[in-house]
Amino acid sequence: MPPSRASRMVHYSALGLSFGLAVLLTSCAPPQGAPQTTMFPKTEAARSIMDLYTFIFWAAALVFIAVQGGIVYTLWRFRSRPGHELPPQVHGNTNLEVGWTVLPALVLLAVAVPTIQTIFFLEAPPAVGASGAPGGSLRIEVVGKQWWWEFRYPEQNIITANELVLPVGRTVELTLLSEDVIHSFWVPQLMGKQDVMPSHANGLWFTPEEPGQYFGQCAEYCGIQHAHMRMNVLVYTPQEFQAWVARQQGPAQPTTELAQQGAEVFAQNACVGCHAIQGTIAQARIGPDLSHFGSRTTLASGILQNTPENLAEWLRDPQAVKPGNKMPTLNLRPSEVEALVEYLHSLK
Ligand code: CUA
Repeated sequence: MPPSRASRMVHYSALGLSFGLAVLLTSCAPPQGAPQTTMFPKTEAARSIMDLYTFIFWAAALVFIAVQGGIVYTLWRFRSRPGHELPPQVHGNTNLEVGWTVLPALVLLAVAVPTIQTIFFLEAPPAVGASGAPGGSLRIEVVGKQWWWEFRYPEQNIITANELVLPVGRTVELTLLSEDVIHSFWVPQLMGKQDVMPSHANGLWFTPEEPGQYFGQCAEYCGIQHAHMRMNVLVYTPQEFQAWVARQQGPAQPTTELAQQGAEVFAQNACVGCHAIQGTIAQARIGPDLSHFGSRTTLASGILQNTPENLAEWLRDPQAVKPGNKMPTLNLRPSEVEALVEYLHSLK
């Protein structure tokens, strides 16, 4: 006997459901390393956003179940059956209409109250001592550029790029500004997104709770390399942070003869027209500050590991690695590339 229409329906529904479930379950995979997701918040600020999200998710789930349940119940309860006449047709029901106006208003109110509380909590200045005071918040200026990030520590007199180094347990206050178009600063585990605009400073604060590496990303379309405008946030222990600050404050020196040759190549080529290296004639502020380039883990705004091979590839043809970026192809000889790689990596 061929399967009935009903049993085929059941069969296909079961198939569809198991496929949907399999897709859903893939999102339950444990996070690999430090995930770029809002689901594992590591600061009080990010946690307040996650808590709000969880609350709204379950509120929406309740509404979904109530509405869909009502529909399914109605379809089943009033299905057409042999011998049943068309029921009496009515128009208008004051109780129902008042109900479905008041109930959604209450749901929206229940969602609005914690949303507004969270917004005010994140907008208010952090509850620590005055900026700059010992133990107070650490102030850092973030400058968005096409397509990389500059981080300036005015009190420590440090300028770095694409790697934001922070001490654990100390509140950080970021001032966000763009030098060109609108970007958006987003490190999901540490804080929500914030626009980075030209000529209008925005602010963000959070307090890192756990040492580690956190991935961030520009979250506002800003040109062809928008997707490659990444960053790393490295949270160190207070001692490690102090040691990092001390290293960054002094100029790094080329350590080998080849590195010394690289320093000369750097000084004699177009490099000095865009980059700065402390203690040398290079003082331009167009490209990233390279004073301690050797201490960074990535290059080209977080898209490549900072290895000699990748750096050589970048120096040979930056436009092939990251099309549209502002670094021109310098037509360097292989020996010059080799010396430059040695020099830049010696700047720890
Ligand atoms: Cu900067 Cu997208």
